[in-house]
Amino acid sequence: MAGRLIELPSPRGPLSERLFEALEGPPGQGLEAPGAIDSFDPIADDDLQLALYVAYELHYSGIRGVDDRWEWAPSLLGFRAELECPFEAALEELVEPAPEEELASVGAALQGIVAEDPGPPLSRYMETQGTLEQMHEHVIHRSAYQLKEADPHSWAIPRLSPRPKAALLEVQADEYGGGSAERMHSVLFAKTMEALGLDSTYGAYLERLPGVTFATVNLISLFGLHRRRRGALVGHLAGFEMTSSIPNRRYGNALRRLGCGREATHFYDEHVEADAVHENIAAWDLAGGLAADEPEVAADILFGARALLQLEARWATRLMDSWERGESSLREPVAVSA
Ligand SMILES: [Fe+2]
Ligand SMILES: [Fe+2]
Repeated sequence: MAGRLIELPSPRGPLSERLFEALEGPPGQGLEAPGAIDSFDPIADDDLQLALYVAYELHYSGIRGVDDRWEWAPSLLGFRAELECPFEAALEELVEPAPEEELASVGAALQGIVAEDPGPPLSRYMETQGTLEQMHEHVIHRSAYQLKEADPHSWAIPRLSPRPKAALLEVQADEYGGGSAERMHSVLFAKTMEALGLDSTYGAYLERLPGVTFATVNLISLFGLHRRRRGALVGHLAGFEMTSSIPNRRYGNALRRLGCGREATHFYDEHVEADAVHENIAAWDLAGGLAADEPEVAADILFGARALLQLEARWATRLMDSWERGESSLREPVAVSA
C-alpha cells in the first residue's frame, strides 16, 4: 500500500479558494492571512471547514501537486490560525463550561455527561429502517475520520504524564490493531467500504462531504495539534469511546438486516467489544489520570467530551433531516454499483 496522498478538492468559497491556489505554488508564498472571518455558522460553514480540513491534512497526508514543506510554512500556520479562531469561538458558545462540582471526579462526570445525552436517534434509525443508500452515505461521511482513526488522538502521546499516557497507549494499541495491520481499525473500515462497493482510497470522497462532517474531524485535529487543548483531546477520546459500543452494535445490525456479510460488519462488531473495555480505561485511567496529574486541564477534559457530543449531534441531524426531505445528506449523491 502506498503512502497517503489526497487530491486537492474544489474550493467552496473565498477561504478555500485563496488557500488552495497558494498551495499549488511555491511553499510559503502567496498566502496572506484572511483577517477576521465573518461566518454566520462556523461549524457548518463549507468554505471554512473545508479549508481547515485541508490545512490540517498537511500533517496527515500528502496532497498531489502540493509541496510537503507547506506543512510548516509560517504563512500556512498563520492562515490556519485565522480559520481556527471562529471555529473555536463557536465551540465556546456551543459548549457549557463544566460546573465546579464535576471537577472533583472527571471519570464520574464523563459518565454523567454521556448518560444524560441520548443524541439524535441515528443509529437506532439505521438499525431499524435505514436503507442501503443511507448506509453508504453514513459510511462515506465517516470515512473522513475512520480512514485515519486514532491518528488525531495520537498527538496527545508526548504530552501526557505516565499514568494517562499508559492508558492512552493501551487504547491506541487496539485501535492500531495490536501489532497486526489487518486488525487496525482504519483498515477494517476500509474493508467495510470495499464490501459495500465504495472507494476506500484515503480522501476519495472529500468533494462530497459537507462542512459539518469536516467539523467533526477538525475538532480532533484542533485539540490534537495544540498542546494547550490536551485536556479537550483526552476528553474527546473518552467521550468517543464511551459512546461507541451501542451505536456500533446497531450499525452492524443495520448491515446484517440489509444482507451484508462479515467483511462489511467486522469494523462495527470489533468496536462493540473493544470499546466496552476502552470506555473504562478512557474515562478513569486516561481522563481521570490526567485530571489527577494536571487539575488545571480538568475542565477542558469535560469540554472536549461535550464538544464531541454537540458536533456529533449536529452532524447526525444533518443526515436525518436530509433523509426526511428525501434528499442525499452528501453534497451530491453517490451512485454505487455493488
Ligand atoms: Fe476504533
Ligand atoms: Fe476504541
